[in-house]
Amino acid sequence: MANQTTSSPFFARSYGGFSLSQIKFIHSAIAHRQGGVFLDPMAGQARDLGDLALKGWNVIIEDINPACLCLAALRSPQLISRADRLVNRYLKKLTTIKTPAISETDFVNDEWLTPSTICFIKEYKKKFEIREGSTPFEPGSIFWDGDIEPIFATALLVLAARKFVCYRPSKNTTWIKEGGIIPLGDLRKLLVEFAASWAEHVQTSLAQLLHTPSGSFKISTAPADGTLAVSNTTPISGVITSPPYANRLDYSVMWGPELAVLCELFDEDRQKIKRAQIGTTVVRGLKNKDASEQALPPSAMHFLNEVASGKGKASDSYYLPFFRNYLVSLTEKLTSAANLVEQGGIFVCFIRDCVRKDARLDAEIFVSEALKSVGFEQSDALKSDKVIIKNHVGLRRPLEKGTVHGMAQIEWHLHFKKR
Ligand SMILES: C[S@@+](CC[C@H](N)C(=O)[O-])C[C@H]1O[C@@H](n2cnc3c(N)ncnc32)[C@H](O)[C@@H]1O
Repeated sequence: MANQTTSSPFFARSYGGFSLSQIKFIHSAIAHRQGGVFLDPMAGQARDLGDLALKGWNVIIEDINPACLCLAALRSPQLISRADRLVNRYLKKLTTIKTPAISETDFVNDEWLTPSTICFIKEYKKKFEIREGSTPFEPGSIFWDGDIEPIFATALLVLAARKFVCYRPSKNTTWIKEGGIIPLGDLRKLLVEFAASWAEHVQTSLAQLLHTPSGSFKISTAPADGTLAVSNTTPISGVITSPPYANRLDYSVMWGPELAVLCELFDEDRQKIKRAQIGTTVVRGLKNKDASEQALPPSAMHFLNEVASGKGKASDSYYLPFFRNYLVSLTEKLTSAANLVEQGGIFVCFIRDCVRKDARLDAEIFVSEALKSVGFEQSDALKSDKVIIKNHVGLRRPLEKGTVHGMAQIEWHLHFKKR
């Protein structure tokens, strides 16, 4: 883990990577596999896998949400090893962009972005040669492998998003809502401050981790259908991942400001990501029971039957399609990634149980069944572990000590080996 001596400019207030015990678990699993290639197919901002790449491991990350991937890019060896030059060139170009005249007549705005911020973003896009044709929203797009200057300019605007959007605080501190008071201040000056803060963070924390030669760090946007962007010709030493949990936390809302800025930059619709996420809260328009359900592990089928026969409100109309969609798309993602792993390779997964009233799906059994079907077994070298989480950050509200539901969750630290 990076040495946290200065405050980090990264959005980590609510979800900032693996926990300390998860990081220890990962290190025990990969210690003898230096130089190997490790894939996280649902990587978020990949704080800890980014650190691994700096330390010499080869890392491939994917996520459906390109806003998190922008922050991951700011931790990549490619950008970190060229930090000074990147920042200097960035600041030079930035001075050529006109600071938006504050044209708003009101103090509040209904959206994340005001009209003058949108004008600034359009000009920013032109000056930094951020092109339409290569977009980070496109699965497998060349955007992430292209010129690092547009990647840096895109990522820095996303990094600063929370300081220039209009938002209303919500009851849950993690989920701010769009619309609210228009922030005062000079957008160009703000970006200068963020560039300086990133450079300082690189110097004080990340550059110390940078090995020569560093590992490789490949970023791809994941397809919306549960498959992977990475080609199946790449031999993978292992998968390390923490999938979304089925607790109706919407990552596209959690990343609202960052995603709004990125969507404006590339003229995209963030609803597409909201609907395609594993664990999406949108059930309207989902396919009913179909062939894909037949590929589910037996424990998942049993859980769905229990949910269907439950008496609670919306058991059948909401919770059944919600859990079915979650389990089908997660099984597909886990098995697609597992299929890429070479013989003797590993699969590390951090996951929580699914709970609906009295029904509980034991995530250890579910993942074991899914991975057994593609040639994995639980490993003796590192025993899987169970942790009780009492204070899940996503459910915390400012004035409450516990979680919203006062409910503990079971989190599994799982380790499998391919036969
Ligand atoms: C628990 S978070 C992972 C956090 C990560 N370990 C980190 O350090 O930031 C789960 C991630 O899965 C991503 N996700 C959801 N659906 C996905 C899909 N279909 N393909 C790839 N990633 C997806 C979410 O965007 C989210 O970033």
